[in-house]
Amino acid sequence: MNIVVIGTGYVGLVTGVALSEIGHDVCCIDIDADKVAKLKKAISPIYEPGIEALIEKNIEAGRLSFSTDLKAAVADSSVVYLAVGTPQKQDGSANLDYIEAAAANIAQSIVQDTIVVVKSTVPVGTNRYLKEFIQNQTPYRISIVSNPEFLREGVAVHDVFHGDRIVLGADDTAALEKLEMINQGFQIPIFKTALESAEMIKYASNAFLATKISFINEIANICEKAGGDIREVSAGMGMDSRIGSAFLQAGIGYGGSCFPKDTLALNHIAKNVGYDFGLIQSVIDANKVQQLKLVKVLKTHYSNLVGKQIALLGVAFKPETDDIREAASEVIIEELLRCGAKVSIFDPVASANMKAVFGNAIHVADTISEVLYQADAALVVTEWNEIKNIQLAEFTSQMSHPVVLDGRLVFDKSEMKQAGISYYSVGTGELEINEPVYI
Ligand code: UDX
Repeated sequence: MNIVVIGTGYVGLVTGVALSEIGHDVCCIDIDADKVAKLKKAISPIYEPGIEALIEKNIEAGRLSFSTDLKAAVADSSVVYLAVGTPQKQDGSANLDYIEAAAANIAQSIVQDTIVVVKSTVPVGTNRYLKEFIQNQTPYRISIVSNPEFLREGVAVHDVFHGDRIVLGADDTAALEKLEMINQGFQIPIFKTALESAEMIKYASNAFLATKISFINEIANICEKAGGDIREVSAGMGMDSRIGSAFLQAGIGYGGSCFPKDTLALNHIAKNVGYDFGLIQSVIDANKVQQLKLVKVLKTHYSNLVGKQIALLGVAFKPETDDIREAASEVIIEELLRCGAKVSIFDPVASANMKAVFGNAIHVADTISEVLYQADAALVVTEWNEIKNIQLAEFTSQMSHPVVLDGRLVFDKSEMKQAGISYYSVGTGELEINEPVYI
């Protein structure tokens, strides 16, 4: 089957590559000529483990190509995937400029009846609107299928072949059957729904997962005062199959390109229909507070942060990605700088992205030893393996004051105590001073 995928961002690239891997002939389109030139050489514009090998393999097999020429590609195919970005506007609503521009291009380029498959996350009702929008500009028959994406960054190549379900939403039975056939090679359960249901499944799934995270973070905050270890609490709750153990890891909140944007967008969708979705507002508010939790604890220890050297261990919004969008690290750094601290960061792949935001206001360390050197405190922000595997002697030998605030619960409290490190981790009590620290 000849398939065109428009947009080689995160979702579009992984989708296009995966469709080629299951045997389809796929042409991925992007307006960015540099990106396309790199992709033709199997160089990925995003850091995603395993993606380049798959690109190379499928280019060699003659099933995958990249181009800037939307018109030529679309003329050759009756199935066009739309995977362009839907950034969020100031008020939390989705900016549809890119998707409308791409839809207009499709309308002007098709030469046969066409199925447009929308991968982009769009507010409920948008796909129906897009169908009219394209149909009004072409004599050919347009069908729209909503096919929301559930990939996690960093493990997207795994997820795309091992998802729990593929959701296909449409009012058009023939289009649904065709998409079902296209997706059969993934051997993942296919769930067919109405158009609006598919759109809502995406928002509701992400909002629910974000709710789980904010919920467990609130419980962690209560444990710190009331007693109880959040790791045990999460494990015990997760054993209830009605709750499940996933997304119950307490820490410094969720970030990334989806949860923050989608929770705000869902809140906006609710407001638009006159519904006050207080629950999601609380989830969003709790996450904002949680992202600054380590700085709050740091301030109880050092009453004045002026001139204090603070090391950030990790800046990516989660491990195995260079993505810093909506990461807790950014608000942490902002607040530390505002308080007059000196900030040094280490991240295996995301440092350059953070440097681009803060420039010379922060120091980028190439190694863990360097970031810890003469630091007054280290904040664990991202649970990279390199960070989980730090030898505890590194903290005591490199830091001016071995104070570790663990936002991802990666170290063991009793081992930290034995090593003479003052230690705090979210949801396991207050900062324990294990060595005199001079303020
Ligand atoms: C998420 C969804 O999982 C995916 O289905 C959707 O398509 C896009 O959004 P992603 O943003 O890649 O994927 O990351 P994910 O692994 O879900 O983590 C999101 C954030 O939540 C990260 O900042 C992570 O650190 C945080 N998180 C996750 C927790 O704090 N606790 C948890 O238990 C799980």
